[in-house]
Amino acid sequence: VTSRTLSRQTPLAGDSYAAFLAELSARFVNTRIELLDEVIRDALRRIVEFLDVDRCSLTRITSSREVVLVSAYSPPGVPPPPPGNACAQLPWYANELVHGRIVNLTHPSDLPPQASDEQAYMQDSGMRSHLAIPINVGGMPTCALSVAMFRRAMTFTPEFIVSLRLVGEVVANALARRESEGRLRRMEAELSHLTRVATVGQLAASIAHEINQPLCAIVSNAQAALRLLTQGKSAAGEVRAALRDIAADSKRAGDIVSRSHRLLKPRELSLQSVSVNDIVRDVMTLMHGEILIRHLRARAELQDDLPAVDGDPVQLQQVMLNLFVNAADATATVSPGDREVTIRSEKVDDQVRVLVSDNGIGLTPDVAARMFDPFFTTKSNGLGMGLAINRTIMDAHGGHIWASANSGRGVTVTLSLPARAPARTPASRKA
Ligand SMILES: Nc1ncnc2c1ncn2[C@@H]1O[C@H](COP(=O)(O)OP(=O)(O)OP(=O)(O)O)[C@@H](O)[C@H]1O
Ligand SMILES: [Mg+2]
Repeated sequence: VTSRTLSRQTPLAGDSYAAFLAELSARFVNTRIELLDEVIRDALRRIVEFLDVDRCSLTRITSSREVVLVSAYSPPGVPPPPPGNACAQLPWYANELVHGRIVNLTHPSDLPPQASDEQAYMQDSGMRSHLAIPINVGGMPTCALSVAMFRRAMTFTPEFIVSLRLVGEVVANALARRESEGRLRRMEAELSHLTRVATVGQLAASIAHEINQPLCAIVSNAQAALRLLTQGKSAAGEVRAALRDIAADSKRAGDIVSRSHRLLKPRELSLQSVSVNDIVRDVMTLMHGEILIRHLRARAELQDDLPAVDGDPVQLQQVMLNLFVNAADATATVSPGDREVTIRSEKVDDQVRVLVSDNGIGLTPDVAARMFDPFFTTKSNGLGMGLAINRTIMDAHGGHIWASANSGRGVTVTLSLPARAPARTPASRKA
């Protein structure tokens, strides 16, 4: 058996490898997620060519600790890797990677005795050498990059291992990005579902649309009437017609407003025994993506053994979501590392309270006075309906909502809900 070290033929640490890596990284960064598979395949091919190896594979190490083939490149004449889940077929190998250990085999005889499946596999496929490097993202191995030799054996030098790990990290980060974007999309879908449940967004759009029509008609009729009057012609009939139209359109707009007023009242509450802490946890989960994107430090300090409240879980979630988003928005001017949102829960007398605090811009007296008014907003993309609806919902629950400035920076918005009377036990009935 001949084995050669590769460092002699390939200038791994040299400029050309650095250039190769840089180009690969740039490709991954600029790639649209949908094209990632293609770019990965191409990268594996180029690794094979650049490092002069026979096969290069990328496997994913899943959160349930399975090792699954993502992609591989082998030139004609070289057998492809076994597809699918390596755990079942190569248990020793999979176990090493799951535990973050490098598998470095110059010869099949380097395998330990217990790796009998792996020995059989190398024998049957004609594999001479194999190197697999698990790559950590966020402290956990998330994938492994491996190369295999069939034409000849190869000793993998520490330098070679470092180089392969560097490429692996580039690929692993691209994969991680795809996964987090996938999570984000799922979360957005959930959020938009919630918005539909709440109907506020939809309602606002349709109100705007419906009101726009009569308003346009009013404006053009008013302009026509003005023109007729300034021209000084006696056109009393036409002016009267224009004014009649204006009155009719104004009434239409007014009807739309009063109709939407009714709609904006919360739907029938479906009251049930609700754990406020559970809702806070749900909101934190839903906001996970936002928290990452906005560089927020979000904390929940939840009091144990909090009594339940009588509430509509969907509506209470809607309230807390708006408070969370408001708090997050308020920290937009704080530097990214320092943005904080804290949700606390506590019991005060017979009330359960949820306090949403931020260290953001705080309240001017003007904002403090008007923030709960419908359509009051200081945001370019805000509707100003969040807190107004929140207050309606809290009223319907027999609760309260208020905002106060923190002693330091930022604002705390407090929700207060009557604690549900504890279930009566025979003992308490006697007492
Ligand atoms: N935590 C906060 N810190 C500072 N200002 C706040 C905070 N929460 C709310 N505000 C102010 O109150 C205004 C009204 O908030 P509200 O939730 O009703 O509407 P919005 O967030 O502007 O729009 P949306 O209808 O999308 O919720 C905000 O525009 C902002 O000026
Ligand atoms: Mg809001």
